[in-house]
Amino acid sequence: MVPEPLSSTTRVIADPGAELAEAFASLWVAVTRDGGAVGFPADAPEADIRALAARTVDDVRAGTLSMLVAGESSRLLGVVFLRPGAGPVVAHRAEMIRLMVRPDARGTGLATMLIDAAIRLAGDLGLDQLLASARGGTGLPGFYAARGWTEVGCFPAALRVGDELRDEHWLQFRIR
Ligand SMILES: CC(C)(COP(=O)(O)OP(=O)(O)OC[C@H]1O[C@@H](n2cnc3c(N)ncnc32)[C@H](O)[C@@H]1OP(=O)(O)O)[C@@H](O)C(=O)NCCC(=O)NCCS
Repeated sequence: MVPEPLSSTTRVIADPGAELAEAFASLWVAVTRDGGAVGFPADAPEADIRALAARTVDDVRAGTLSMLVAGESSRLLGVVFLRPGAGPVVAHRAEMIRLMVRPDARGTGLATMLIDAAIRLAGDLGLDQLLASARGGTGLPGFYAARGWTEVGCFPAALRVGDELRDEHWLQFRIR
């Protein structure tokens, strides 16, 4: 399939409807099966992925997560979420989590656009910094570093991916 052009826009979704919730769950399953580093090993049961997707959507509806999407509910291309710190000493920052782009829409700048939109949203929310974690043994820490993020820590053997233990790399983006 021809990759989606760079002109796709990103949107913040405060109240995901049923169609978008289904599209997000299907996206997460497809990205996981493709070997993506988003919380599951590639052979994770589909029901487990869909259950966590449903809880994630509930958190968006409850206002504890912000959801940014690229594409439409009828053809969701990518997502990312912000989880602002809960409590006074971490209220100036958020975690950026679950960045994923459809396998057949990659390489056209969608993830970069979603990250830029997340940084803009965080700035609008008055946040000072973002944190993201990336699975060791992948090119992902370098992917973030190439976009201006700084690696600030590595948690050895923190992730169990199937039978393998992987390091977890932490990256920070300072907004102000
Ligand atoms: C990582 C991911 C979000 C990038 O999406 P994308 O829309 O293709 O990214 P962009 O088009 O903005 O950027 C493409 C660039 O990123 C690089 N890149 C993409 N995935 C990468 C990876 N896993 N490791 C290292 N570099 C990667 C490409 O090589 C390309 O590099 P270039 O600009 O030098 O040509 C996408 O590959 C994905 O969904 N992967 C599975 C889920 C995942 O692992 N998410 C990361 C959670 S931390």
